Amino acid sequence: MQAAITYTSDEFLTTYFVYVSGEHISAAKAEVNALIHLSKSDAVLNWDGRIGLMDSQKNMIPFLLERAALVKEAGLVLTEIDEQDDLIESLSDDVLKNNIGSDETFSVRTISTSEGASAAERLDFESRLGAHISQVVGSRVNLDYPKIRILVIFSKKHVRVCKSVASKLRPMLRSRESGRKPFFHPSMMNTTLSRVMCNLVRVVPNEVVLDPFCGGGGILCEASFIGARTVGIDLNWRLLTGSKVNLSSIGNNYNLIQGDVRRLPVSMCDSIITDPPYGRASSTRGAQAIDLVEALFGDVDSILRRRDESICICGSQEMNLQDLAERMGLVVNQVLQIRVHSGLVRELLTLSV
Ligand SMILES: C[S@@+](CC[C@H](N)C(=O)[O-])C[C@H]1O[C@@H](n2cnc3c(N)ncnc32)[C@H](O)[C@@H]1O
Repeated sequence: MQAAITYTSDEFLTTYFVYVSGEHISAAKAEVNALIHLSKSDAVLNWDGRIGLMDSQKNMIPFLLERAALVKEAGLVLTEIDEQDDLIESLSDDVLKNNIGSDETFSVRTISTSEGASAAERLDFESRLGAHISQVVGSRVNLDYPKIRILVIFSKKHVRVCKSVASKLRPMLRSRESGRKPFFHPSMMNTTLSRVMCNLVRVVPNEVVLDPFCGGGGILCEASFIGARTVGIDLNWRLLTGSKVNLSSIGNNYNLIQGDVRRLPVSMCDSIITDPPYGRASSTRGAQAIDLVEALFGDVDSILRRRDESICICGSQEMNLQDLAERMGLVVNQVLQIRVHSGLVRELLTLSV
């Protein structure tokens, strides 16, 4: 189920924040931007390192936390203080009392986006603020399982005291990682990247997502968790059977076809999310992977009914998919570098017909 987008007052803008994971920062920012676009908000995010700040009438935080793979936590900015002011003195008692109940436990953590505050200063501030909140509100500190998480963000000019909610999706993505699925194959796409790819093309429930190199179904499983109807095609019967096992464990809104990407028997799809074969993990039965992608790009016009940014493909840098897509008349919307490990960088492209 997709989280409802809730509304705050129509009259007042509220400042929200997101704190993204450091593993793929440019992909994280692109993912958040895509989801904000999907929620039809005109909020503009201003980024300071891994923190995104936005003023908005819509509270998109529950939606972002439910959808985004690379958002670690997000929430409401309670107050913003100039860096030179005394933080605790500037913090209004009412703000604290309105946001933390006397019977609710809380934690205080700090992060810094600049060199400003040292780790020791931040630690000292955490314990002073914790004591101050206990005294003003009457609530107790619980660092392990707090009901309310206060996050203090130090930046170059400001200190922001925020009420934060941790992502529940990220632990779920870890729990359904490829190795923990009913069927596993080393060529399968991992859950975090699969989810990011679905978000970049703004998949919505009930739309039809095609993976023409579906293998064991890593990408299609995440599309299914979002509520999409999935179509998977693969040359390899054994992997297709594995995909069936994995997708059946989520629901029954899928179709799988044994076939060749060079002769795709499909149309009326909303988006294509895929990763062509590369490396030793997946066989092409003698074909060149780039020729297979070229065949796919040649067909997307007749397969897709969405004309916006509806294709997301992950390939190796050597494939130079951007060049190929442009030569074949597709619009390249985004190219994101994904560092898999020290020697391996992969490229995520989003394209429109
Ligand atoms: C990197 S894997 C795909 C992983 C998958 N997208 C996922 O989400 O887990 C590449 C797949 O391409 C398939 N393949 C290779 N040649 C193909 C072709 N000509 N047509 C369709 N599938 C092909 C391989 O069998 C392999 O399963």
